[in-house]
Amino acid sequence: MDLKEIYNKAREKFNGACRVCPNCNGRACAGEMPGMGGTGTGSSFIANYDSLSRIKLNLQTIHQASDPHIGYDFFGYPLKMPILVAPLAGMVINMGRAMEEGEYLTGMVEGGKEAGSLTFTCDGPNPLFFDLGVEVLKKNQGWGVPTLKPRQEEAFLTLLKRANDCGVKAVATDIDAAGIIHMKRAGQPAGPWPVEVWKRVISRAKLPVILKGIMTVKDAESAVEAGAAGIVVSNHGGRVLDHTPGTAEVLPEIAAAVKGRIKIFVDGGIRSGVDVLKMLALGAEAVLVGRPMAIVAVGGGKEGVALLLNQYADQLRTAMIYAGCQSLTEITPSVLRMGHNPGGRA
Ligand SMILES: Cc1cc2nc3c(=O)[nH]c(=O)nc-3n(C[C@H](O)[C@H](O)[C@H](O)COP(=O)(O)O)c2cc1C
Repeated sequence: MDLKEIYNKAREKFNGACRVCPNCNGRACAGEMPGMGGTGTGSSFIANYDSLSRIKLNLQTIHQASDPHIGYDFFGYPLKMPILVAPLAGMVINMGRAMEEGEYLTGMVEGGKEAGSLTFTCDGPNPLFFDLGVEVLKKNQGWGVPTLKPRQEEAFLTLLKRANDCGVKAVATDIDAAGIIHMKRAGQPAGPWPVEVWKRVISRAKLPVILKGIMTVKDAESAVEAGAAGIVVSNHGGRVLDHTPGTAEVLPEIAAAVKGRIKIFVDGGIRSGVDVLKMLALGAEAVLVGRPMAIVAVGGGKEGVALLLNQYADQLRTAMIYAGCQSLTEITPSVLRMGHNPGGRA
């Protein structure tokens, strides 16, 4: 199967829940939540895509970078690329019952592993999401990162223990799920928590904790203070609050404030290896990709996920040649064209 066939298959299976657009930019699905869109007007999802598209790159061809290395050590997982699969849940709620949740999750996790990447699994009001994640990760020797909702402290610690038991090397928590009403309705209120609570919880976790959903310097500083091992600069794919900036817009100021004190990851609107290069130049160590991965999992299972990840990795290597970067550490703001970046920070 090639990607074209995979997209056609996915379009059929989603049955309208996702149009599988040529450019996954948040416009056709604006406001479709539940669904695959961004919340409200859809502007936060659209801002992710647009802010990244606006960034231009310097094309450089007189140098020695001909065979770039893109291997990346993610908390002890030796990955072949700095590109990870974001947690995306909800076949029934969001994805038009395109396939069975367990089969989909298996495709996401095993496809990630096959390509030398790694997948984040989910949590939600339905215990199935967390349980299936744990099950699939156990089968795959803990090759993945469970993502917990910031539930009440004891419930959170119980899930942390279960995550630990499945052999993973890190856990994440989508702290931007704090306002998600369906957790409250299901009698499982989630966050927000003040920094003192995070300090206490993180000190009790046996694994590095990644806080997903940081959009300001202030929250990034709090994550450092709380002892988190990493942050994901993310607005949850534009699904939690309308009218936020794109993640590419806030990443440079967050990196300027906390880089070196905490690992910085980012997601939102990343649709190619060139986009990965841009995000690394803006200050991230690695990126997460959301919707495009769910689409290929629906259309092609684990083969689809591995195929798309490998395509992004190839594109990243090519982009690095044109940026004159032999290794990931050589990717700096100088690859970005001055004056064409969000905030003009390059
Ligand atoms: C249908 C759907 C379900 C999602 N479910 C979760 C989830 O359960 N936990 C979570 O942390 N993020 C969730 N997200 C957010 C993604 O992890 C990620 O932050 C976002 O999709 C990245 O943007 P992109 O899709 O433009 O790449 C979800 C996103 C979508 C579209």
